[in-house]
Amino acid sequence: MDGDANTPSATAPGRLRHAMVDEILARSTEHDRPLDPRVETALRTVPRHLFLPGRTLAQAYADVPVVTRTDAHGAPTSSVSQPAMVATMLDQLRPRPGHRVLEIGSGGYNAALLSELVGPAGSVTTMDIDPDVTARARSTLDAAGYDRVEVVLADGEFGLARRAPFDRIIVTVGAWDIPPAWPGQLARGGRIVTPLRLRGLTRSLALEQEGDHLVSRSDQMCGFVPMQGVGESPVLRIPLHGAQVGLVVEDGPVIDPASLEGALAAPRVDLHSGIDLGPAGPFSGLDLWLASAFPGFCLLTATPWAVGHGLVAPAWSGGTPALAEGGGFAYQGAPWPVDPGTARFEFVVHAHGPGADGLAARFAGQARVWDRDHRRGPGPVLTVHPADTPDERLPAGFVIDKRHTRVVLTWP
Ligand SMILES: C[S@@+](CC[C@H](N)C(=O)[O-])C[C@H]1O[C@@H](n2cnc3c(N)ncnc32)[C@H](O)[C@@H]1O
Repeated sequence: MDGDANTPSATAPGRLRHAMVDEILARSTEHDRPLDPRVETALRTVPRHLFLPGRTLAQAYADVPVVTRTDAHGAPTSSVSQPAMVATMLDQLRPRPGHRVLEIGSGGYNAALLSELVGPAGSVTTMDIDPDVTARARSTLDAAGYDRVEVVLADGEFGLARRAPFDRIIVTVGAWDIPPAWPGQLARGGRIVTPLRLRGLTRSLALEQEGDHLVSRSDQMCGFVPMQGVGESPVLRIPLHGAQVGLVVEDGPVIDPASLEGALAAPRVDLHSGIDLGPAGPFSGLDLWLASAFPGFCLLTATPWAVGHGLVAPAWSGGTPALAEGGGFAYQGAPWPVDPGTARFEFVVHAHGPGADGLAARFAGQARVWDRDHRRGPGPVLTVHPADTPDERLPAGFVIDKRHTRVVLTWP
């Protein structure tokens, strides 16, 4: 390895690595989420470029995910994750020296960081469903000197019983559910950190066992390639304009795609909510609030072409909160300057199709409730219960039923 962990190295990889970590640290302080110093030391130590052979040093030390595998349609199926996201999740995980850790979704880099964090008394096992990924993880881990990390080819849905129990389980792929193997293979007092898809939104949760259910101690916005294999999620994509604009529906309701045919071609209703979002966004709590407020919650997606040609003006083209009902739909519009020249933006809603006025009004109305009652609050408590838990034993809140679990969002 090049350079000392705590002093900027004179070598190019070391210099670039320290610059990358400085940037991550500055942003985490700015967002009032100071990074665990142990995670910082690990980030300063592990040579990320050795996990990205064939990429330039600049690519290896930019704070972006690097896609390493794509499917037949060009969609990413594997990547070496974004360093800032890796840092956030390690912070949520709290691995300590001596811990036994299971990582689901391999890339090599995060496993090496975990190896630094658990030290020689601990152990790290990383598993992936894709043989090319495990082969690359094995060879890069060996080349970087992390030959103690075990690499396993298997579907993470079932965990790894032969190595259980684990003090920590970290999932680095977009899970739609928490399969029983994960809590089942967790040691007492253990913690699972996993991205969980909730009605199309993804949050990295830090879950701990409490009696017969799991409680999330922290939730962070994130984006991950979707889980493959047995745990693949059922997603409904409703085209609104060929492949250019669509709605993504996850965790119900059942929307008949035919009911939305022609809706986008109907005149657009614009509604200004009066909510000053300030200079920032997105707001994790706002999205979760809207997802818990409407059975017809979904996400609107659009290509840059569709946005450029004015077909839609979403807040985020990759997936903007939306509501579909009765053949019409409403969605959160691109942030609207409160006053020209200011960096403050208003929450606006656009809607099309039957009932567009009413949909826009209800969507803006719920955003106002969030602004008034929850914006400055701690956000929802997320709990995960076995699928056979009857309603009367669930906490009060919005329930999302999955295959193995019932996830409840309880708003204070
Ligand atoms: C974002 S990458 C992992 C990044 C990695 N942890 C790193 O160090 O940067 C997600 C990985 O999850 C894997 N994956 C998808 N479904 C899986 C499953 N059911 N079990 C195990 N791995 C899976 C993919 O093949 C992909 O390599």
